[in-house]
Amino acid sequence: MLTSDTMLQVVPTRPAPSQSPPRYSQLDQVVRRGFGRTLGWIDGSTAEILAFPADEPMRDWDLRAELCREVARRGRPEFLDDEDPFLTLALPLPAPDGETLVAVGTFVGRRVTLREDLTQAASLLGLDPQTAALWAARQTPCPPEVLERLARLVHAQIGSQTRIGELEREAASLSANLAGTYEEISLLYRLTQNLRISQRDEDLGRVALEWLGEVVPAAGLAMYLTSLRAPGAELLAHNVRTHPVLVTHGACPLDVDQFDQLVRLLGPTAVSQPLVVNHAGAGRPGWSLPQVRQGILVALSEGDNLFGWLAALNHSGGGEFGTIEANLLSSVAAILGIHSGNIELYRQQAELLTGVVRALTSAIDAKDPYTCGHSDRVARVAVRLAEDLGVAGEPMNTIYLAGLLHDIGKIGVEDEVLRKPGKLTDAEYEHIQRHPEIGHKILRDLGKLDGVLPVVLHHHEAWDGRGYPRGLQCDEIPLAARIVAVADSFDAMGSDRPYRKGMPGEKIDGIFRGGAGRQWDPEVIEAFFRARADIDEIARDEPDDVLAGIAQYSR
Ligand SMILES: [Fe+2]
Ligand SMILES: [Fe+2]
Repeated sequence: MLTSDTMLQVVPTRPAPSQSPPRYSQLDQVVRRGFGRTLGWIDGSTAEILAFPADEPMRDWDLRAELCREVARRGRPEFLDDEDPFLTLALPLPAPDGETLVAVGTFVGRRVTLREDLTQAASLLGLDPQTAALWAARQTPCPPEVLERLARLVHAQIGSQTRIGELEREAASLSANLAGTYEEISLLYRLTQNLRISQRDEDLGRVALEWLGEVVPAAGLAMYLTSLRAPGAELLAHNVRTHPVLVTHGACPLDVDQFDQLVRLLGPTAVSQPLVVNHAGAGRPGWSLPQVRQGILVALSEGDNLFGWLAALNHSGGGEFGTIEANLLSSVAAILGIHSGNIELYRQQAELLTGVVRALTSAIDAKDPYTCGHSDRVARVAVRLAEDLGVAGEPMNTIYLAGLLHDIGKIGVEDEVLRKPGKLTDAEYEHIQRHPEIGHKILRDLGKLDGVLPVVLHHHEAWDGRGYPRGLQCDEIPLAARIVAVADSFDAMGSDRPYRKGMPGEKIDGIFRGGAGRQWDPEVIEAFFRARADIDEIARDEPDDVLAGIAQYSR
């Protein structure tokens, strides 16, 4: 758990001094109520005389102030002077600032008459005997034992008040912590409900900032995502961030370049722990972002991977950021970091899959150069047919990959059979008919390609059940396989082969019309005629950039 000690306070600040009542004012009220008169005040640490009652006889108090320091150290009421009838009481009391103040006063221990000779005792007050007798006669007498008891009562009452104050502050802090913890848990719960691997980290970040805005008193919140690759690096597939992205909420005082500057200034210190900066603009030498006065900066990371930064900028209440806000940002950043880490892992897996598909399609092309580009065209025609049939989302990815890989089993067909220019013998034809099952075997252990397996296995099935390898019919044949079958036949009929020229479009149309409901799914054939113009375009295209196609369809 984070504590304030673990956070670096770059610029610790104190509130500006304000006109406040004397330090002894609260104690003074209790003392006056207890003794029925005002006492003097001496600082128990420095022996400084803080206040002295106007009607107390003036004399040399410096020595007594030093004695008060001793009394403060011992912590109990004592008499500094006891010269009948005068008593000087020193009462150490805890001040609200944690220091000890000493209340002092001279009392008269018994009734005194004006005729009484106070020659000896008067010197204690620094007065002549007559003035001393006059002063003594005006005071309410208070015997030493009563004075002592009063002192103990006042001491105990102030002790109780101090303890009550401490308990109240403790309760307030606990309740603030509880409220903070509840908000934190509720926010994190809501955030985890939105953790979906398919969700971009910008989108999850936007949700997180909006919710943080409800509980963190910041004028602006920001999530800065660093680029994952250097600009210009080869992009294989999938969403790879090539430039930093800044997502903001509220009044964020920084644009993306300025945030980059902030990261360069503070990032090295904040990479392993939340960084709280208060009054940065005013107090930090060389601080180049005066629009940031207070801030919290937290790294978005997972393991050794740093994905970006989360920041709260400028306290909305004019105060300072502290541990509670830093904790909250830190917890949210941890979740966002894990999410970014998962997305990165997913991207790497997809990139790996792209590499595998690329290697496999190259292998098919190398095996049968006469059909070069066939896999790519079948993939794109199948996607166009699927679009027309209302397929969308993930199944579309599968159809694209299935189109690329449908003939992968030809890798296991003998070269002389595959490349034979003339008519095939029955045995050769049987041999070539094994390619769907060989393809299925090649791909079945690649978990990520599970979806394409039925297409690879069944792309030579016929609607009327006279196809191979299983003789499935109608809806028994997976839709994706029925779609790829039409795309495959279209490309095979239209392409030039060593032993024949590609068929003209009208002839292909005629064969499709005749074969609808026999060789092919009539609905897919209808889709073919609806999308005929686009499909012709695909057929005329140079072989597509397979990588770009995978990038488009395998997200
Ligand atoms: Fe095939
Ligand atoms: Fe094929």
